[in-house]
Amino acid sequence: MSGPSTAELRAAMPLVTVRGLRVSYEERAVLAGVDLDLFPGETVALLGASGSGKSTLMKSLTGFAPISAGAVRVAGHDVTNLARGEMRTLRSKTGQVFQQFNLIPRLSVLTNVLTGALHGAGAINLLGGFSSAHRRQALSLLDRVGIAHKANEPARSLSGGQQQRVAIARALMQQPSIILADEPVASLDPKLAGTVLELLRGIAREDGIPVLVSLHVLPLALEYSDRIVGLRHGDIVVTGRTAHLCSADLAGLYTDDARDSAPASPPHPGSAHVRLSV
Ligand SMILES: Nc1ncnc2c1ncn2[C@@H]1O[C@H](COP(=O)(O)OP(=O)(O)OP(=O)(O)O)[C@@H](O)[C@H]1O
Ligand SMILES: [Mg+2]
Repeated sequence: MSGPSTAELRAAMPLVTVRGLRVSYEERAVLAGVDLDLFPGETVALLGASGSGKSTLMKSLTGFAPISAGAVRVAGHDVTNLARGEMRTLRSKTGQVFQQFNLIPRLSVLTNVLTGALHGAGAINLLGGFSSAHRRQALSLLDRVGIAHKANEPARSLSGGQQQRVAIARALMQQPSIILADEPVASLDPKLAGTVLELLRGIAREDGIPVLVSLHVLPLALEYSDRIVGLRHGDIVVTGRTAHLCSADLAGLYTDDARDSAPASPPHPGSAHVRLSV
């Protein structure tokens, strides 16, 4: 019998490893000792009430949050101890998708996608224009996300769902090792939200990269993720395979929301820690 293939071995190695992560703002713990692994090919939904620390956790992966303790490794980089110039490399490997799309409205869809190629490159690219290879790549990515026919239109003329597809194509232009999507569907209607999440999940699987996506809508998380991580007051209180979780397991994330604007520690005495098989 043959052993595991290289691809299988690679898939079994986490691309992101977070251990004991603490982030504090003005001495207030916002993340209170978080552990997280993200594996190639999986879509992980990050849930939690407003203020529970979802965006802070994502920012910690790219060195944008003030980490006070713990270890964070992303695609081979030690985020708490980056060498000179390494931050830029790390960020160029990290595709980001935001709630408000963050496109340049007056520029064409194609140019917006091409700006993804500037990550990790010098300003000279801006002056020299984009290579035809980059243009071909950008067009093929627009085709992949289903809006190649909009390539020459200004980004502002597209619907929200289409703009988010452009933003995803722009992230893919970076040839990312990981995609972080912070509430990517919060500005979309439920039907469009589903198609965008389906697209992200397909990318995770086809490209073999982890996609971490924060969401506010439980049914979307239950339908479009492989794993769920639930934060409450800066602590992971629910984690497990999506197939093994139901809305009742997650309801506790959203009770007593008022506390989320209060200090994160000590942990809420009544909060159930649900830890299912991963
Ligand atoms: N730059 C900052 N300075 C001070 N406090 C901050 C900063 N960024 C975040 N916080 C605080 O950290 C806590 C967690 O914020 P975070 O943005 O991570 O929450 P979230 O779960 O993403 O919320 P939402 O669902 O509203 O986006 C909040 O109490 C917030 O006020
Ligand atoms: Mg947030």
